[in-house]
Amino acid sequence: MEKKILYSGMQATGVPSLANYIGAIKNWVNLQKDYNCLFCVVDLHSITVRQDPDFFRTKARDLLTLFIALGIDPKENVLYYQSHVPAHSELSWILNCYTHMGELNRMTQFKDKSQKHEDNINAGLYTYPVLQAADILLFQTNLVPVGQDQKQHLELCRDIAMRFNNIYGEIFTIPEPYIAPVGAKIMSLHDPTRKMSKSETVNENNVIFLLDDPDTIMKKFKRAMTDSLNQVRYDPEEQPGLSNLITIYACATNHTIEECTKEFADSPGYGYIKTKTGEAVVSMLEPFRKRFKELQADPAYIDGIIKNNAERANIMAQGTLAAVKDAIGFPK
Ligand code: TYM
Repeated sequence: MEKKILYSGMQATGVPSLANYIGAIKNWVNLQKDYNCLFCVVDLHSITVRQDPDFFRTKARDLLTLFIALGIDPKENVLYYQSHVPAHSELSWILNCYTHMGELNRMTQFKDKSQKHEDNINAGLYTYPVLQAADILLFQTNLVPVGQDQKQHLELCRDIAMRFNNIYGEIFTIPEPYIAPVGAKIMSLHDPTRKMSKSETVNENNVIFLLDDPDTIMKKFKRAMTDSLNQVRYDPEEQPGLSNLITIYACATNHTIEECTKEFADSPGYGYIKTKTGEAVVSMLEPFRKRFKELQADPAYIDGIIKNNAERANIMAQGTLAAVKDAIGFPK
């Protein structure tokens, strides 16, 4: 039987965080065998915020390299830059005309990001979810593995696809989100009421970056915010810091929340839990960091993958775009 299509993407705005790995890439790695997958460095999305050109180019390449270091097979899957496939922009414009401003006004990420970048609330930031819908719909995607924060964008994508199909017939596959029950919302280490974000500007200690060295990781965990209740319970409402550590530990050791809570029940104090969690994260990330360095040292190999995959993605995108244009009635 033909495998179904899986699609996901990540922004190239810095080194990805532990949250990006646990909430998204770890699931991509686990699901890659069962689907035909496309994993995209969504660089067009990143320019809603001003980027330094050299830094941006380096970060985009590092991210694509990191996908491979983290376990994505570049031969079996399509790994590519969004900006190398013009069909994204073309479909995005078309879908803009099938999206209501009321829908975009409701997007919580737009509201959050407008607050963060008050000096540059551009139209791209506003229509960002439409480009995301185009990414997904372009490839007749069945499954989209993402973290919790992308749920609203996925719902909008489905609404746009259904609206379009209602007018023109079954042009788009309606995608399903895949949001893992554990780890879909990893919180900041110092302020566990906020999500961990790779574009953190307040305090770097809030975030574990995937290329942090072991000492830095241990230091950040040791400083993590917990509480003064002195009891080990998994309770994100009452004990968000501790519950976040338990979640991270569970994901890093591939155990359940229950198993980890039990394991920590008799621990001598929260310090012990912070150390154990730090150690588990270090053992999970160290092989990735090493592999990343090896891959970085072989630019010709990475160049080959970029070229080859961009060609594959461009070919794959053509069918849907042609069907969309034909349905709307553009001249042939
Ligand atoms: P981005 O780059 O912000 O995040 C990449 C992925 O990481 C997940 N994530 C988290 N998961 C758990 N806990 C967190 N604290 C956390 N923070 C981020 C995100 O949910 C995401 O899965 N708009 C998207 C990129 C995108 C995309 C797409 C995704 C563009 N087109 C098409 C899927 C399909 C974004 O900015 O993700």
